Amino acid sequence: MNFHILTLFPEMVMQGLMTSITGRAVQQNKIGMEAVDIRDFTQDKHRKVDDYPYGGGAGMLMQAQPVYDACQSVLKRLPEGRKSRVIYVTPQGETFTQKKAGELSKADDLLILCGHYEGIDERVLEEVVTDYISIGDYVLTGGELAAMVIVDAVARLVPSVLHNDQSAETESFQGNLLEYPQYSRPEVWHGREVPSVLLSGNRKEIEKWRTEQAVLRTRKRRPDLYEKYRLLEECKAFLMKQKLLHIDMIECINRCRAEVLYWDGTELLLRETQSGVLFHTKETVGKDSLFAKEIKEEQKGSVCLVLHQKEMVPCVQQLLHLRVSVTCLQAVCTRRERLPVRGLYRADTLETLSGCRIRTLEEEQLPYVVSHYEGELSEEYLKDRIAAGQMKGAFCGEQLVGFIGMHDEGSIGMLWIAPEHRQKKLGQALETVMVNEGLERGEIPYGQIRPENQPSIALQEKLGLCLSKEPVYWMESQ
Ligand code: ADE
Repeated sequence: MNFHILTLFPEMVMQGLMTSITGRAVQQNKIGMEAVDIRDFTQDKHRKVDDYPYGGGAGMLMQAQPVYDACQSVLKRLPEGRKSRVIYVTPQGETFTQKKAGELSKADDLLILCGHYEGIDERVLEEVVTDYISIGDYVLTGGELAAMVIVDAVARLVPSVLHNDQSAETESFQGNLLEYPQYSRPEVWHGREVPSVLLSGNRKEIEKWRTEQAVLRTRKRRPDLYEKYRLLEECKAFLMKQKLLHIDMIECINRCRAEVLYWDGTELLLRETQSGVLFHTKETVGKDSLFAKEIKEEQKGSVCLVLHQKEMVPCVQQLLHLRVSVTCLQAVCTRRERLPVRGLYRADTLETLSGCRIRTLEEEQLPYVVSHYEGELSEEYLKDRIAAGQMKGAFCGEQLVGFIGMHDEGSIGMLWIAPEHRQKKLGQALETVMVNEGLERGEIPYGQIRPENQPSIALQEKLGLCLSKEPVYWMESQ
């Protein structure tokens, strides 16, 4: 991910961003950062970049030409096929949120245009800007601070920018709860004691206390967020009545990636925020379902909808013209303890008994994965999964001989082992690694298995995963 900040004050931006975590990430080549001085692109002999607004009014406007040329100077040097976005930071934009940061973190290049004076000539904005973003309802003297806020929030979501890559997901805001209060030494300060439960060493009690505190704090300080949290808890209680069947929806909520599109107490439509996949379930399947309107509104491009009742399939086929692309059973790791690794691999080195090493895949393995994966996934999707650090492979020396991954909506899948390496427990080893990593992150790991895939069902059973009785139905645009 590369950040290109177009500004009249390059030193201000670079001084701010080249320190601390973002600065270290640049030095370690995890992200790229440059400030492009818009003044370098003016054709005015006095290096002027602003002029009076037509029609009169207070202040000066940044002119179109230098802004346009500065922007083109960056866009022209980007290699072909890169996903770039041009952001104009302005109080008139959509309000920046954690969700927007997540969306922007998927781009390869972010160009951020900082305005000054009374703004920028509208014509150049119309030509180049893809996103208008405000960092809040107040007016700053220029866009630089807003650009720095956006870079910081997006950079920390880039894999490996934070040392402990778990914290990007679990800290403060990803969910709908605020962070619980934290304490460090000394035990008593100004007569105030650290809550005794934190000194008890009882993990379970500590977790319980922290959740309670987070809920209380959110209710008091952010009633708006608390309302969202309460709604999701209500939906989760409903889904838990059939835990195995609904594990995809439950985990979507647990992993803080759920947006409720429709809920009336008996019927639920969720959107998984990273993948855009929609999940639907209904307690009693009657004729009229009310959620079609919500889906149609969502249906800008193609839709991917997972149904949890067979009876809904014809209705959805008719109403939304979707077809069933695949039917899957849910395979759920219902236990909290890690799966045993004995007889599979060494826990410290991830070396399998047959001498293979398990490690995260990198982009250079993409051609191998694309040419061997037997499912219907596109090259772009597999590339994205690898780039997200969500695929693992078993390597015999330097040769990749099998792989597995986590889908963008959160299920484990994409398992494939080279024929000459089957019967060596490599599939079992790969899935065990994925499940145990999920457990460590506090997730309930699950996969989705086609009912006719007997070898995979046997593998799930061997690992001790529980299968749902009924399948789910993945529906896609025709
Ligand atoms: N430029 C000036 N004020 C701003 C704000 N609140 N957000 C983004 N850009 C700005």
